[in-house]
Amino acid sequence: MDVDRIRAETPGCAEVAHFNNAGASLPPAIVVDTVVEYLQREARVGGYELADLHEEQLAGVYRSVAGVIGAHEDEIALLDSATTAWDRAFYSLRFEPGDCILTTTTEYAANFIAYLQVAERTGAHIEVMPDAPTGELDVDALADMIDERTKLISINHVPTNTGLVNPAAAVGQVARDAGVTYLLDACQSVGQMPIDVDEIGCDLLSATSRKFLRGPRGVGFLYVRDTMIEELTPASLDLHAAKWVEPDRYAVRNDAKRFETWESSPALRLGLGAACDYAVDVGLGPIWERLSSLADILRGALQELPGVAIHDKGTVRGGIVTFSVTGRTAPEVKAALAVNRINVSTTSAHSARIDMEQRGLDEVIRSSVHYFNTEDEIAALVAVVAELAEH
Ligand SMILES: Cc1ncc(COP(=O)(O)O)c(C=O)c1O
Repeated sequence: MDVDRIRAETPGCAEVAHFNNAGASLPPAIVVDTVVEYLQREARVGGYELADLHEEQLAGVYRSVAGVIGAHEDEIALLDSATTAWDRAFYSLRFEPGDCILTTTTEYAANFIAYLQVAERTGAHIEVMPDAPTGELDVDALADMIDERTKLISINHVPTNTGLVNPAAAVGQVARDAGVTYLLDACQSVGQMPIDVDEIGCDLLSATSRKFLRGPRGVGFLYVRDTMIEELTPASLDLHAAKWVEPDRYAVRNDAKRFETWESSPALRLGLGAACDYAVDVGLGPIWERLSSLADILRGALQELPGVAIHDKGTVRGGIVTFSVTGRTAPEVKAALAVNRINVSTTSAHSARIDMEQRGLDEVIRSSVHYFNTEDEIAALVAVVAELAEH
């Protein structure tokens, strides 16, 4: 991988040491230019008119997104965020009293709030599967928990608050054997690693553009397995998702676009397409290899510091490195790093309450590495943390 070239193509690399790639990564120039140039032309040509002129390119975005996860373009819906994508899928499922939703200890708050709301409305109930001793979800326990009431397996691939990668394909095998619908929140994994929806065996997958894919903010996507599309009707429909064919009748479209709404930002969609093409060009295998080895270096160096505790769990760990510093709050550490132009984020208990409470954690510092980071940047981050830990 030509890291120097990649950094030269990333304007932000000259400004900051960016370890907030699980928040929003630094986009390559091609992504920024695609968005900005489109918006500038839109102002001159007209919004509808320019979209017509870009019909082909906009259709190409579905192919680019599909290419990153091994899907078909008709299985992709483009939406404004990962949460919208996930919600569109989840709220299209029908639950009855006694139905069971199986999920993880590390579930993202937005997802868990939706489970609670649907449980309240329908009488379905939520069961949280335990973690294996190594930290990721326990696939054997999952297999034992499934019974005829299990309606949905809904897990995250990479949690919001720790470095682990859940065994998504092993879960897929269990889901397939049991014939249970499988929804995968891949918001934090897409762009970090090679992903193939057939290998994983999920029926539904949601993700965002702005994190490890390095696309613009304000756009995300949903994958719906072709065999599921016509089974699932979104909780709301507009004139893009369905056609008003007679005064008293409508027909829902038969591709994944039934989960979309008519209005969208073509600029952001094209930016997402450019980000997907860029990631495929760099190579998702090499991206995963470099990013996970840089994260190991960072974890190892922080681990050496007295007063610093690492909070990552899991047999397989990716680019997210979480830690705390004795006597310092997470926002304090974030602020001290920011003074040195080093970006990290913090995660508090209410983002992933079950896991954080089980581990007695109120907050962690989340430093998330990408393939364009360098060992020098890691050394700079570690030096600031070492200084804080000492005083
Ligand atoms: C695991 C996980 N799922 C979903 C989301 C939501 O993504 P978005 O903010 O794009 O809706 C996040 C955001 O941090 C996340 O960490």
